[in-house]
Amino acid sequence: MKTLKTQVAIIGAGPSGLLLGQLLHNAGIQTLMLERQSADYVQGRIRAGVLEQGMVDLLREAGVSQRMDAEGLVHDGFELALNGRLTHIDLKELTGGQSVMVYGQTEVTRDLMAARAAVGATTLYEAREVQLHDLKTDQPWLTFEHQGEVFRLECDYIAGCDGFHGVARQSIPAESLQVFERVYPFGWLGMLCDTPPVHPELVYARHPRGFALCSMRSATRSRYYLQVPADEPVSDWSDERFWAELKKRLPAELAETLVTGPSLEKSVAPLRSFVVEPMQYGRLFLLGDAAHIVPPTGAKGLNLAASDVSTLYRILLKVYGEGRVDLLEQYSAICLRRVWKAERFSWWMTSMMHQFPEADSFTQRIAESELDYFIHSRAGRQTIAENYVGLPYEAIE
Ligand code: APR
Ligand code: PHB
Repeated sequence: MKTLKTQVAIIGAGPSGLLLGQLLHNAGIQTLMLERQSADYVQGRIRAGVLEQGMVDLLREAGVSQRMDAEGLVHDGFELALNGRLTHIDLKELTGGQSVMVYGQTEVTRDLMAARAAVGATTLYEAREVQLHDLKTDQPWLTFEHQGEVFRLECDYIAGCDGFHGVARQSIPAESLQVFERVYPFGWLGMLCDTPPVHPELVYARHPRGFALCSMRSATRSRYYLQVPADEPVSDWSDERFWAELKKRLPAELAETLVTGPSLEKSVAPLRSFVVEPMQYGRLFLLGDAAHIVPPTGAKGLNLAASDVSTLYRILLKVYGEGRVDLLEQYSAICLRRVWKAERFSWWMTSMMHQFPEADSFTQRIAESELDYFIHSRAGRQTIAENYVGLPYEAIE
């Protein structure tokens, strides 16, 4: 068995792992990254698209913002549709000048992969059978297989950035973890298409036939979503059926101007709320989807990954730079305070915007009335706006 050494071992080369790796590398802290899939597979995944200011700032700090700053779309607001009418949520005005950046996770990943390759930091793609050992000691280690060889990787700390189905969280004894979960009885059918977006801003629509979202990747590429039953086969949805259903759920003024075209990709994603506490076990830290999932209605999944990265990065800077090992124990509590607020917002937006198949007529009217109240009250719009642009990151002191 060959032995390798690094300071921080990172499991998973999604946005969490790649961003953490880049920040640590720039700070002179060595990392080695293990990814189960191939680079092409990681690069090909189509996921979220809205970046909070905090994540934009972190990407700039990591030195990987050049393309985002050139091609990303700054959005100062978005629209909520109820009963066929649009209400503008003016993020900038309601939050004292904040906005979001529309830039696909696929592009963020591509930029981070290129930056990591450019600095020559190691990522072992198609690393199999990753296993974690001695997490409660000060010399944790991993074993894995790569290109037919078995390796031992010794390190100071392990960052579990391996997503919801990863090995990191599963390596923590069940009795040391508390799981909080809600599974929703529906999913989102997403479609990517090279057509101009139907509206210059994102449109989230509540409709008796189910929720719909109009998003985008650029001035010529749109991303649309429809609420569908959780177990819906994608094969039931021809492009024609998708467009027809989307038109039914949008206000008439938008449905009339919607430009349709052939889909580039279609997929169904289940909706789930999930948090594990604590987000650390000995020298293993969980980040991003490995520790929590939010339903996509608040556009928070990727952004929560970024705030976990920021927290661990700033702690490790002080650990390596100033010997502040006392901070390590605070990682989980600091992350969870922000995670739970985003969980609440994501759950709340999901509850207000969707049709719940089991809901009685009273519950449906309450959800509709709640949305109606919030969008027609300045205080209501303000609470939506301040959560949407992202709550502040906690300082690490
Ligand atoms: N060993 C090595 N790598 C693994 C393993 C394993 N056992 N299990 C999973 N991985 C890899 C996956 O192949 C994936 O590339 O870990 C990576 C995790 O990446 P993501 O799932 O993208 O999670 P994260 O980086 O936390 O990003 C969170 O991505 O999933 C979206 O909605 C989510 O936008 C949010 C963001
Ligand atoms: C997306 O563009 O994929 C997207 C945008 C906003 C959301 C969810 C997904 O809330």
